[in-house]
Amino acid sequence: MPVQTINFHIKGDSRGSLIACEQNHNIPFDIKRVYYIFNTAPDAVRGKHAHKTLGQILVCISGSCDISTEENGRQNTYYLNSPTHGLYISGLVWREMSNFSPDAVLLVLASDYYKESDYIRNYKDFLRLTKEQND
Ligand code: TYD
Repeated sequence: MPVQTINFHIKGDSRGSLIACEQNHNIPFDIKRVYYIFNTAPDAVRGKHAHKTLGQILVCISGSCDISTEENGRQNTYYLNSPTHGLYISGLVWREMSNFSPDAVLLVLASDYYKESDYIRNYKDFLRLTKEQND
């Protein structure tokens, strides 16, 4: 499945909660890059691209935001509002992030370094590549 929700196991005690992300254990790839998005303008829409090979896990560790995805003609919107739930996106998936709350911090774990050559930024190219994949 190119888009999957992930529930992280919480290690909690009387002091509070902790979640650990470990590559190839609860994160299904080598983690080569971590970035986070914050201070997002309320009307901003980020993303608007797909990737050729990258795998990513998105976790809204503070606040909330929407992640809209499209793969193979299927469109979904996931409301992320918890550090305990993530979204695993791999394969040919168009994604847009929007509706950020003022306190939103979106953490992204990625399977590769930043490579502009892995981006598909043109929606028509994305549709063409999706079609080619299915032919
Ligand atoms: P951009 O691709 O527009 O972010 P988003 O997909 O969240 O809308 O990236 C914004 C800028 O940051 C752009 O100049 C590329 C740069 N960037 C990096 O240098 N490294 C990274 O890991 C990412 C995701 C972006």
